Amino acid sequence: MKQPVAATSKDPTVVPRSVAVIMDGNGRWAQQAGFERIRGHERGTDAVRTTVTECARLGVQALTLYAFSEENWARPKREVALLMKLLQRFLVQERPTLMDNRVRLLHSGRRQRLDGKTLALLDETIATTAKNDGMLLNLAISYGGRQELVDAVQALARDVQAGRLRPDAIDAAAIAARLYQPTVPDPDLLIRTAGELRVSNFLLWQISYAEIWVTEVCWPEFGKQQLHAAFADFGRRTRKFGKVP
Ligand code: IPE
Ligand code: IPE
Ligand code: MG
Repeated sequence: MKQPVAATSKDPTVVPRSVAVIMDGNGRWAQQAGFERIRGHERGTDAVRTTVTECARLGVQALTLYAFSEENWARPKREVALLMKLLQRFLVQERPTLMDNRVRLLHSGRRQRLDGKTLALLDETIATTAKNDGMLLNLAISYGGRQELVDAVQALARDVQAGRLRPDAIDAAAIAARLYQPTVPDPDLLIRTAGELRVSNFLLWQISYAEIWVTEVCWPEFGKQQLHAAFADFGRRTRKFGKVP
């Protein structure tokens, strides 16, 4: 795996090891352009491809994309159905791009509510890319941060009940090990598009010390320029982790 690009006096850019993105504003972008909301989701797929390939090229080790939240199931049936169709199409069409860029796909979220076809395509793409040694692409689909913690707590309780774990042996590492994708490093940088200043139930545990970068730009318009701006800004941050620098 490539090493992060170091900061120089001229270019402050530091490529974060792990990046997470709340891809928001598809609906607003479409409505501003006079289209139906779904057109925004369609255009958002192009921004996903650009972001994945550019992050892989720059040497990001893990990219987690918030594609569909647990709460998004409460959207109108038609929008949910179209989002699932788009997701299915993405999982098939992007396979060559993922392979060319040596990207390995992972999933974070609850599988129970996803339909059989979406799950099958997801599993196929995960299997196809399983041996790739480049960037990890962690797609958060049917994902909720609280739900992830609930699932981790249930797993801990099962281990305690079965006598595999003592309650006083439960520490932060034991919790982290039971999250959906324990091999994905905690995000160094959390990007949110479309200007909202909230986390919307995304990676509640993992973003404890993430640097947050918000742009007014809606997701369909997000491109290399915004990504580079985020990384340059990240390079100017002083990460203190509670200590005195
Ligand atoms: C993000 O765009 C995509 C998903 C949540 C699936 P939105 O659909 O939330 O767009 P806005 O926030 O309504 O503009
Ligand atoms: C967060 O966006 C979820 C995804 C980007 C998939 P939302 O549009 O659902 O979040 P809220 O409703 O504005 O908090
Ligand atoms: Mg939104």
